[in-house]
Amino acid sequence: MGLIDTHAHLDDNSFDLDREQVIQDAMQAGLCAIINVGTNLVSSKESIELSEAYKNIWAAVGLHPHDASTLNEDNWKEFVNLSKHKKVVAIGEIGLDYYRMLSTKDIQQMVFRQFIGLAKEMSLPIIVHSREAHEDTLQILMEEQPKKGVFHAFSGDIDVLRAGLDIGLYISITGTITFKKSNIAPLINFIPLNRLLLETDCPYLTPDPYRGKRNQPAYVQFVAKKVAEILGLSVEKVIEINRVNACQLFGLGNSTRMTQI
Ligand code: NI
Repeated sequence: MGLIDTHAHLDDNSFDLDREQVIQDAMQAGLCAIINVGTNLVSSKESIELSEAYKNIWAAVGLHPHDASTLNEDNWKEFVNLSKHKKVVAIGEIGLDYYRMLSTKDIQQMVFRQFIGLAKEMSLPIIVHSREAHEDTLQILMEEQPKKGVFHAFSGDIDVLRAGLDIGLYISITGTITFKKSNIAPLINFIPLNRLLLETDCPYLTPDPYRGKRNQPAYVQFVAKKVAEILGLSVEKVIEINRVNACQLFGLGNSTRMTQI
């Protein structure tokens, strides 16, 4: 099938009791790759461990803006080392979050710039988290000029979308697209097909028909289905577009089937 979940957090505690089963279910649903995205040093390490245990799980290492204030010289060195691992395909998630503001704006911006620098040095794409901070996020991206990246769980309006595309970012869509009042659904037609990505952001942002329950990589199929419906394309076509784009951005190679090592 070739389904890819470009953004999952399988290291999350909510998967502690059945992580293996959730991964098996993803394989059963036809997934050929999952990118597990770190949010701090521990989860970045856990993402790498998952990528070592499963051939078709890849890792991203990064520090979520919520945790930006935890950065120090010691853990920075560890992040740099982790980014050299052969299964690491991106730096993320990184960015700005002014919604919960768990770290000050200054610290968030400084850390965001520092990780973009790491991505450039390692020639890796970035996975950008931006919540109620789009203006500053775009400003920093324009100044720092990352080589490539993705606007993860895109939540902006048409202007933010256009600015993100101008910078060269891919736009990633989550399960919120399936909700009746989705703000993103009307924007789908403005995303060039060669810049479109699909993700779950599991365990969060669960699509219909499972809204309210824990999300998991297998449910990326519902995101694909909804996007296909909006674009008037077959689900197979949308799955293929996502596969080609994910392989292109993250350099995944031609994975066709998920297998355990
Ligand atoms: Ni995430």
